[in-house]
Amino acid sequence: MTPISPSRFSLSLPHGHAVAVDVADPDDDVLSELHADEQSRALTLAPIRRREWVAGRRALRHALATIAPTAVTAPLLADDRGAPVVPAGAVGSISHKRALAVALAAADQGWTLGVDLEVPGPRRIDVSPRILTAAELAALPPPGPDRDRAVILAFALKEAIYKAIDPHLRRYVGFQEVAVTALPDGTALVTPLAPWGLTVEAAWLDAGDHLLCTARARRA
Ligand SMILES: CC(C)(COP(=O)(O)OP(=O)(O)OC[C@H]1O[C@@H](n2cnc3c(N)ncnc32)[C@H](O)[C@@H]1OP(=O)(O)O)[C@@H](O)C(=O)NCCC(=O)NCCS
Repeated sequence: MTPISPSRFSLSLPHGHAVAVDVADPDDDVLSELHADEQSRALTLAPIRRREWVAGRRALRHALATIAPTAVTAPLLADDRGAPVVPAGAVGSISHKRALAVALAAADQGWTLGVDLEVPGPRRIDVSPRILTAAELAALPPPGPDRDRAVILAFALKEAIYKAIDPHLRRYVGFQEVAVTALPDGTALVTPLAPWGLTVEAAWLDAGDHLLCTARARRA
């Protein structure tokens, strides 16, 4: 493995350290940054999926490097639920959206992590009835850019939450099973509407072209 090339951003956040890298067709130099087992896995994927998978692994290795003094030499593959497997002593999560992949990593202090990246803006299909509870729908601003952004932000928060809680619950969790309220200070109120038995935190950041949401969960 060769050293990782510069990242698009590297941010210390309340739930961990986030690193973003470009999603692009991996050339030989980029593939050589990966562990041999990751390279083998990457080569089994179709080109579009390979691009995002490789970028996610590069971002995650970079994010892990910010929290551990020694380089990660183990392969960062996936568990039986699709979550990235990180070395003992650390936790991590991955998201990719169009041209950007991001990973969030932290030292393992009993919390599991989730990260999600979304591009704000109107969607062809209004996903709000599927994503939001009746109370969340009622609290939306009137139709327009603010409403579009609020829907995408709630969606991203819930996807980050899903990734953080899945290692504990190990089942599909629907979007109606939790309510979220994004607060102006970058935190979010998280209200599970089912008995998860977990403490869950979520946060969000306007990262220029993207909304970056993070979450963490642990047994209550
Ligand atoms: C798994 C899911 C969250 C992925 O989100 P997405 O917007 O499709 O894709 P993203 O790029 O943001 O994330 C993909 C990454 O999530 C990670 N991931 C996949 N399954 C995961 C799981 N069960 N737990 C944690 N992380 C998971 C992987 O790292 C994956 O990237 P990789 O395969 O390249 O490593 C989404 O497809 C899903 O199934 N959601 C379920 C319902 C939900 O979100 N409910 C919210 C209420 S809590």
